[in-house]
Amino acid sequence: MTKKQYLIKTSSPEATVEFGKRFAAQLKPNDLIALYGDLAAGKTTFTKGVCEYLNADQPATSPTFTLINEYTGDMPIFHFDCYRIKHPDEIIMLGFDEYLEKDGVVLIEWPEQIAAHIPEDSIELHINYVDERTREIEIRSPRSMEL
Ligand SMILES: Nc1ncnc2c1ncn2[C@@H]1O[C@H](COP(=O)(O)OP(=O)(O)OP(=O)(O)O)[C@@H](O)[C@H]1O
Ligand SMILES: [Mg+2]
Repeated sequence: MTKKQYLIKTSSPEATVEFGKRFAAQLKPNDLIALYGDLAAGKTTFTKGVCEYLNADQPATSPTFTLINEYTGDMPIFHFDCYRIKHPDEIIMLGFDEYLEKDGVVLIEWPEQIAAHIPEDSIELHINYVDERTREIEIRSPRSMEL
C-alpha cells in the first residue's frame, strides 16, 4: 500500500503534545496509529496530545506495566505499549482484534513487537531523536491529512 508521507519537526515536548492535538483532529473511529521510535523518542508525549484533544478522562501515562490503558473521551482511546511483550500472540489473548472494532482510536507503542498483527492500513508515526529537545516525526498515512 502506498502511503502519503509528511515530515514534522518539534523542538520541545510541548510542541509534540500540540502536534498530537492537531493530528487527533483528523482521526476517525477505528483508526490505528503505530508509534515507532526508540526509548524516550516521544511516543507517550504525542499520545498525551491525542488524549487532550479527545477530552480523555485521564491524561495519557505510560502503560508499560499494564500493556493497555483505556481512556474515555469523545471517542474511546486504547493505548497499547508492547515493549514488554514476550510473544506477539499475547496481545491477541488480550482481545486485540476486538479493540480494532470498538469505534475508538488505537495507539500502539513498540508496534514492531507485534508486527504481524499491525494492519496494513495503519497510520505510521516514526519519531526520531535529533537532539535533546528536537524530534523529527515522519507520518505515513493511507489517506491525506492536514498536519
Ligand atoms: N521535541 C520533543 N518531543 C517529545 N519529547 C521530547 C522532546 N524533547 C524532549 N523530549 C523528552 O523526551 C522524553 C519523551 O518521553 P516519552 O515517554 O514520550 O517517550 P516514549 O517514546 O513514550 O518512550 P518509551 O519507549 O520509554 O515509552 C520526555 O522526557 C520528554 O520531555
Ligand atoms: Mg512511552
